[in-house]
Amino acid sequence: MEAAPAESERAAVAERLLTSSLRTSYDPTVEIDWDAPHTPGAYWLPPHRSSLYGTGLWEQLGEEQRVELTKHEVASAASAGLWFETILMQMLIREYYDADPTSAQAQYALTEVADECRHSIMFGRLIEALGCPVYRASPRDHLLGRFLKATARGPRMYAAILIAEEILDAFQREIMADESLQPLIRMVSRIHVVEEARHVRFAREELAAQVADAGPLGMAYARLLIGRAANTIANRLVHPDAYAAVGIPPAVGRAAARANPHWRATLRWSAARVHAHLADAGLVGGPGRLLWARSGLI
Ligand SMILES: [Fe+2]
Ligand SMILES: [Fe+2]
Repeated sequence: MEAAPAESERAAVAERLLTSSLRTSYDPTVEIDWDAPHTPGAYWLPPHRSSLYGTGLWEQLGEEQRVELTKHEVASAASAGLWFETILMQMLIREYYDADPTSAQAQYALTEVADECRHSIMFGRLIEALGCPVYRASPRDHLLGRFLKATARGPRMYAAILIAEEILDAFQREIMADESLQPLIRMVSRIHVVEEARHVRFAREELAAQVADAGPLGMAYARLLIGRAANTIANRLVHPDAYAAVGIPPAVGRAAARANPHWRATLRWSAARVHAHLADAGLVGGPGRLLWARSGLI
């Protein structure tokens, strides 16, 4: 387990991130040509990252339908992304309410909120450009998110942030590097990866300080809530209704994805980095660990 960073070290990290934000920040409403035609036949996700890749259902789909499925999977991930960003913005603002507004950490937290505002607009425009529905969280998860954004503090707040950011980040790094994919999704991914790298750095620093401050009870509660958050995020990546877009009944598609060894390997791959980091910080364990395992992330 790492030692808690000193206050001066946290401030120095936040200072560096503020400088980097000045240098490389993007306004997706002007940086992206939203009206550019899509590339015929190009996938929206590397096909091997589709939740149905390698299944009997995948074999039955024609090429065009496979592309269509990856498009809806991207719309689903974007819907989950902006849902989580809304929760995240509120958590950061809530913490800022008690913070010293002259500190670099507080100012970076606000900068991150500004980034997330642009990201959520970007994801909204992406879903619109794809012509896909907004794949909303289930009523139960919607309620859970409402609870989290209104109450989460301490280690569970930054841990939940890290899980969502790092899982999406794994997919987006692969997408931005893959020249065979649709230019629109590569550009969206590039903007998100650059700005999220700073968010991940900041969250790790703040998390280490919060872990050092948390007592045993706080840590136990954090492990449970973190497991629940990981489970929700994994389940929400592909909304079951996305399968209906290619004629597969949602329950059938979901069951096939859950049993799909390729998809299970993809989930573990996407969570490997954040799981290792949180486990190292003592934040994976107890009943919370069961939730990680049940979600297929480990
Ligand atoms: Fe974001
Ligand atoms: Fe972020």
